[in-house]
Amino acid sequence: MTDETKYTRQTVTSVHTWVPDKLFSLRVTRDRAFEFLPGQFARVGLPGSEAPDGPPTLWRAYSMVSAPGENALEFYSIVVPEGEFSPRMARLAPGDALYIDKTPFGFLTLERFAPGGDLWLLASGTGLSAYLSILRDESVWQSYERIILVHGVRTAAELAYRAEIEAMRGRPGGAQLVYLPIATRETLPGMPRARITTLIADGGLERLAGRTLDAETAKVMLCGNPAMLADARKLLGDRGFKPGRRGIPGNLAVENYW
Ligand SMILES: Cc1cc2nc3c(=O)[nH]c(=O)nc-3n(C[C@H](O)[C@H](O)[C@H](O)COP(=O)(O)OP(=O)(O)OC[C@H]3O[C@@H](n4cnc5c(N)ncnc54)[C@H](O)[C@@H]3O)c2cc1C
Ligand SMILES: NC(=O)c1ccc[n+]([C@@H]2O[C@H](COP(=O)([O-])OP(=O)(O)OC[C@H]3O[C@@H](n4cnc5c(N)ncnc54)[C@H](OP(=O)(O)O)[C@@H]3O)[C@@H](O)[C@H]2O)c1
Repeated sequence: MTDETKYTRQTVTSVHTWVPDKLFSLRVTRDRAFEFLPGQFARVGLPGSEAPDGPPTLWRAYSMVSAPGENALEFYSIVVPEGEFSPRMARLAPGDALYIDKTPFGFLTLERFAPGGDLWLLASGTGLSAYLSILRDESVWQSYERIILVHGVRTAAELAYRAEIEAMRGRPGGAQLVYLPIATRETLPGMPRARITTLIADGGLERLAGRTLDAETAKVMLCGNPAMLADARKLLGDRGFKPGRRGIPGNLAVENYW
């Protein structure tokens, strides 16, 4: 996309490294006209290596971490060493340009669900991004009995935003938040070392949360690794969870990252 009417040029204001050479986040200026719903994603652009100072020619989807009420946009990213986009994005520094498509996209948003019951937010890896935008927004804290955030990662170091999430329990309505950090390649104190899908299948997630995954009342979001999503969709489908369609709210919403 090189049509300048379709995107804006924004400026990186800060960079945070969570895990060197693997995980980082960026904050960039935000065009006032860029409005979005928590859980949506932006198309983010950079120039290709053939013309590094030219217009953006490489585009990737990135969920907003920032809430709609923030002045800046924030993104949280993996570095795929052989990828075309993410290593380039990881080299950005304050003052550099990042291009943002004017249209926000995506349906991993709370309007997919009827209000009430428990909200389960299940993420693998950087799939956490979309949920941070949802949790940083006020509206979610008024709509559910419990919010259960499950973040599945390989190692404890990859539990990005952990301190921010834990601090949310201290905010008004925050006592309803249950945060379950789950690692698969390291043992976290008091937590099983297992994939999210294993813990759905064996009831471990429900025991840890102290809530049941009841399709009558619970709403589930899934975000991240497509293999995890496929396995989790099957397990949850067997328990009566399904996406809404044609304006009828469902109790399952899913976002594939690749
Ligand atoms: C709707 C949507 C939202 C997204 N939001 C985010 C986000 O908030 N943060 C983010 O880091 N990525 C996100 N992605 C993925 C992102 O668009 C890119 O794929 C990623 O930045 C890698 O780009 P790349 O060109 O370096 O590699 P690509 O050529 O795009 O991908 C190469 C391979 O890397 C692996 N891969 C890609 N993305 C990831 C990832 N996030 N975690 C682990 N492995 C991955 C896959 O095996 C993929 O086939 C999102 C994708 C979609 C479709
Ligand atoms: N040293 C590194 O690891 C390194 C360094 C730099 C960049 N990278 C990049 O990082 C990418 C991986 O990123 P990531 O670790 O955030 O993502 P990931 O491979 O999707 O792993 C995130 C979590 O999801 C789990 N998972 C994977 N497949 C699943 C499934 N089918 N069902 C349930 N859970 C599943 C993983 O468990 P398991 O542990 O059991 O797979 C892990 O706990 C690599 O592709 C590489 O490009 C890796």
